[in-house]
Amino acid sequence: MAHHLLKILLVFISAVALSPLSFALSTNVGTGYLYPQFYDHSCPKAQEIVKSIVAKAYARDPRMAASLLRLHFHDCFVKGCDASILLDSSGTIVSEKRSNPNRDSMRGFEVIDEIKSALEKECPLTVSCADIVALAARDSTVMTGGPYWDVPLGRRDSLGASLSGSNNNIPAPNNTLPTIITKFKLQGLDLVDLVALSGSHTIGDSRCTSFRQRLYNQTGNGLPDGSLNPRYAAGLRTRCPRSGGDQNLFFLDLVSPFKFDNQYFKNIMARNGLLSSDEVLLTQSAGTMELVKKYAASNELFFDHFAKSIVKMGNISPLTGSRGEIRKNCRKVNHYK
Ligand code: HEM
Repeated sequence: MAHHLLKILLVFISAVALSPLSFALSTNVGTGYLYPQFYDHSCPKAQEIVKSIVAKAYARDPRMAASLLRLHFHDCFVKGCDASILLDSSGTIVSEKRSNPNRDSMRGFEVIDEIKSALEKECPLTVSCADIVALAARDSTVMTGGPYWDVPLGRRDSLGASLSGSNNNIPAPNNTLPTIITKFKLQGLDLVDLVALSGSHTIGDSRCTSFRQRLYNQTGNGLPDGSLNPRYAAGLRTRCPRSGGDQNLFFLDLVSPFKFDNQYFKNIMARNGLLSSDEVLLTQSAGTMELVKKYAASNELFFDHFAKSIVKMGNISPLTGSRGEIRKNCRKVNHYK
């Protein structure tokens, strides 16, 4: 009888242990599975705290929303969404902040620090820097008028950075469309993801150095290459001369630079897209052209695809379970503290 009871008990325990519920609740299985409720019990105020600090930063500087959104992209494309971009150089770590796409360009690190220190007070060593970045990107999008999405959570932070990954994986503004498509494909992202996520350029700024080539692409007669609206190009040249003014800033969306909407796609169709990488979406492939046209025609479709694609991007190779760590300070790995 006792033997029989023991057998029933064992069957029961193993059924519970193997159930999807216990899998999801367990904190140390490396399943790569993220879910929005991850901090509901361990840090119930986490999302509220992130949002309030993003709101404060946005009130101080409206461009910050764009910078925080871009931070998530540049994090995810290098070793996955693991906050590798936040590490400063130290010991064996060479910071991704030095890479070509990030140097003199990436911003928002102080805002992430502020969020992290508030969360360390509320629930120490619980909320990862990678999740903070993902949440800040969502909140920034919503604050500027863009779509809301539930952010799957449970990412952990990397123990290292990759300068070469940052230089090689993140598309450059003068890359050809096939190169950009390949760089997205390598991250598991398709054409819809590429075009929808490029719609992030509906907010934020670019430096002159990121698009100058387009203004002075000599065609023999010194005229621009014709891919830009001539009046727009003439305006840009006044503050982005042939040499000098590298750091001068320009709105990526000249019509509604602080509003997250589908204006970016309308700009591209009017040959008013700022970066070469924006324009090629219309001119170098029928597939991407169709999507540009669809998003220019429907804000709703753009928002719907954007939300789905950014969740997909946020799922790039997360560290879960016991891999990586929860950093105490987003700029350093814990053992350097
Ligand atoms: C498709 C390939 C992409 C290329 C080639 C590209 C390139 C660039 C470049 C060159 C800038 C200006 C940087 C500067 O001059 O300082 C920029 C800004 C920006 N990018 Fe992209 N980007 C791409 C995709 C994305 C994606 C997928 C996102 C987000 C999910 C994004 C979000 C942003 C935002 C929000 C800004 C403005 C940042 C600010 O004002 O601080 N970009 N991008």
